[in-house]
Amino acid sequence: MTSADQYLIKEQPYYRPVGNEIELFEAAYAARMPVMLKGPTGCGKTRFIEFMAWKLKRPLITVACNEDMTASDLVGRFLLDVTGTRWQDGPLTTAARIGAICYLDEVVEARQDTTVVIHPLTDHRRTLPLDKKGELVHAHPDFQLVISYNPGYQNLLKDLKQSTKQRFGALDFNYPNTEVETEVIIHETGVDAKVAEKLVQIAHRARNLKGHGLDEGISTRLLVYAGQLIAKGVEPRAACQMTLVRPLTDDPDMRDTLDAAVATFF
Ligand SMILES: Nc1ncnc2c1ncn2[C@@H]1O[C@H](COP(=O)(O)OP(=O)(O)OP(=O)(O)O)[C@@H](O)[C@H]1O
Ligand SMILES: [Mg+2]
Repeated sequence: MTSADQYLIKEQPYYRPVGNEIELFEAAYAARMPVMLKGPTGCGKTRFIEFMAWKLKRPLITVACNEDMTASDLVGRFLLDVTGTRWQDGPLTTAARIGAICYLDEVVEARQDTTVVIHPLTDHRRTLPLDKKGELVHAHPDFQLVISYNPGYQNLLKDLKQSTKQRFGALDFNYPNTEVETEVIIHETGVDAKVAEKLVQIAHRARNLKGHGLDEGISTRLLVYAGQLIAKGVEPRAACQMTLVRPLTDDPDMRDTLDAAVATFF
């Protein structure tokens, strides 16, 4: 038996609210409504769900979804061992049994035949059929399903079906405003306000280039990386090139443009 304890978040994660997302999520949890967290990479979705699991005192089971993932990876499978075959619950089944919050990260990466296994858990049935085992799991009253979703990355062939999307309430996430993002960087890295503000301004420049040569702007996560290097004594320009520019683009012209933006601040 898996103990719920190991999935509990013991220390309060640092999460700086951006709007009323904490209250909305609490209400959704009270209704056991499945929730979708939408937003670009590195804007705080994972941190938010860790914070909410801590606040609600629920275990959190996270699954990183990918296109090779099968329904068995979520639900469970029979394993062979010396004594014969043994059933092993997958993370979704474990979460449903112990009353955890199950966070399916990047769910759109999973194939649609995998995604549909969550359907009976997300409506009034709150059940999970383990077909191979011949068991119908009734979700624990505290169980909740949460997925993350990165709008814009997927093409039409790779999107969630409406019948999946419409089983969730959704919260929009984005990079925080200047004041909040500066605060986050200071807290996460220990750099001073002046440095943090410059990092945020560089990010704003780059975010304006989204769709004009950049697929995605500089995330809050990358700003935190930059701050961490600077706090370790790395010269700011080198730190920014390594964390804010090189990861973002392979295009030499775009790299020069971003390097120039860095040079105007540091
Ligand atoms: N509101 C916030 N409060 C505290 N930290 C934040 C906040 N927003 C962003 N961060 C910082 O940004 C980092 C990246 O956030 P996180 O890992 O939650 O991104 P994500 O949205 O889950 O990205 P991905 O889609 O790539 O998984 C965090 O480690 C944290 O340092
Ligand atoms: Mg994440």
